[in-house]
Amino acid sequence: MCGIVAAAATDNVVPVLIEGLKKLEYRGYDSAGLAVLGAEGLERRRALGRVAELCARCEGLAASTGIAHTRWATHGAPAEHNAHPHISAGLAVVHNGIIENYEALKAELLAQGYQFSSETDTETIAHLIAASLKIQPDLAEAVRLTCQRLKGAYAIAVVAEAQPGRVVVAREGSPLLLGVGERGYYAASDTSALLQVTRQVIYLENGDLADLRPDSLVIRRIQGEAGEAVSRPVVLSQLSADAVELGQYRHYMQKEIFEQPEALANTLEMVGGAKSVQPGLFGAEAARLLDQADSVLILACGTSSHAGMVARYWIESIAGLPVTVEIASEYRYRESVPNPRQLVVAISQSGETADTQAALRHARDQGQPLTLAICNVAESAIVRESALRFITRAGPEIGVASTKAFTTQLAALFLLTLVLAKLRGRLSEADEAAHLQAMRHLPVAVQKVLALEPEIAAWARRFANKQHALFLGRGRHYPIALEGALKLKEISYIHAEAYPAGELKHGPLALVDREMPVIAVAPNDHLLEKLKSNLQEVRARGGELFVFADQGCQLPADDADGVHVLALPEHYGPLSPILHVVPLQLLSYHAALIKGTDVDKPRNLAKSVTVE
Ligand code: F6R
Repeated sequence: MCGIVAAAATDNVVPVLIEGLKKLEYRGYDSAGLAVLGAEGLERRRALGRVAELCARCEGLAASTGIAHTRWATHGAPAEHNAHPHISAGLAVVHNGIIENYEALKAELLAQGYQFSSETDTETIAHLIAASLKIQPDLAEAVRLTCQRLKGAYAIAVVAEAQPGRVVVAREGSPLLLGVGERGYYAASDTSALLQVTRQVIYLENGDLADLRPDSLVIRRIQGEAGEAVSRPVVLSQLSADAVELGQYRHYMQKEIFEQPEALANTLEMVGGAKSVQPGLFGAEAARLLDQADSVLILACGTSSHAGMVARYWIESIAGLPVTVEIASEYRYRESVPNPRQLVVAISQSGETADTQAALRHARDQGQPLTLAICNVAESAIVRESALRFITRAGPEIGVASTKAFTTQLAALFLLTLVLAKLRGRLSEADEAAHLQAMRHLPVAVQKVLALEPEIAAWARRFANKQHALFLGRGRHYPIALEGALKLKEISYIHAEAYPAGELKHGPLALVDREMPVIAVAPNDHLLEKLKSNLQEVRARGGELFVFADQGCQLPADDADGVHVLALPEHYGPLSPILHVVPLQLLSYHAALIKGTDVDKPRNLAKSVTVE
């Protein structure tokens, strides 16, 4: 993953680089570093851990040209000598991505006498550029020739002591955009890092290289003998600086959980007060393309795949179309049977997840042209590569644990369900209007669930010291149990498993004893009585139960006897998963607070998994 910032300007860019890294820290936080071209020539500072550590090492540093990086380790352990930038012969490089042929390139460079001081693939790029500069003294051209030899994914930024006032950047696969500021040109992995200097941005295409100076910008293609010059439009980013500030909240995750009513309202804005839902919500061609679909294949990773699993219950029961949900990293390498009439839905918050992007391409290359992206980032690769699209309007999600992106994905998937059902003549006008009415009420309904925070925080105190937890759900709430377990694992480091409750007796019940808290998602639906029997099985083995029930579930609490029940304010029919995930988000957040973990940046993880 990693985050990159670069600047070629007329004033001191060190504060801009540092501030940009802080905004990109969610992409990786194993180490941070920068290199600038200052009065003393090329100067590099690196630090293990957070940007704050790096900041302390940059006191007194000033320069008008520089590159910076925050790292999520892939090749080489998190260690200072592996931190970027990497240096060779007076030039410095930062890199986001993975160079797949770096071993062959490294062997070649070692044979030429280059010495390596890290275990990273990036150092190979630095030496390759240094070697190219011996033949081709122009930095941009030397970088271009180097890029032609790289296989894999990269976004890079390069400065060279011999060519002050200049930064060269290039991208293939990994995200990179440019900022057009009043005092110069900038580059970064995402817009949030550049809002401090400009909202005017240029999205580089894959295979673009840009030569940045304080007063000029040239973009060229990497491939081709001469590197054809290209122009890319300047667009005004709609992202507001406030959207990426923490404000009154302690953590981004907390902020994002509480932003869900607004995120849902924004996502549903295009439905407005309408009594019917139109295919056009998914793109101009949607009516024609969606009408051809005889089945649905959903591709996603992590939390986004849980949204896909909920959608399977919706689409099959309401639209009557068969649905398969595949983990993208598995599907991309599986020999599957292509079906040209299958609608392929890629779900991704970032739109840059390498596995999801590759799975989408794999489906398309196999002859499945009906593709739809459900994504939170309009300019992302997955959106650009799909025939149809729905952009959730969750706003920037900074916390590594996904929350508001998930609930807005669910809202988008429910709209898709309605559109598919309507195209197939399976939705009466009355049902359509009722579903839309329920969707419009979602922001208010979620707000009421958020009001349960004090009770949920008290529950978190009861089990934050446990080693393990079991999450149970049935039907469309089984994926919600999976999502609850994932949230708990990733931010509180408590081992958690989720099961469809009916599966308990087939194995996991053996784990249940007094030390095993069991968290149950218990909506008031047709599976409630079955679930109640499953919960009895847990009680009979002494397990402590934490049940999120709906009103009217008639599940009496007995706190003294280890049965804790919290009733959600409303019963919500098919949309109930959107409500039931919220207490689970709050539960894991509060458990993590008690454990004192780094909620927004859990160990070993990063947002936007742009590597395989
Ligand atoms: C979990 C989480 C991850 C992401 C996954 C996919 O809280 O955030 O599991 O859901 O990495 O990311 P996107 O949705 O950006 O493709």
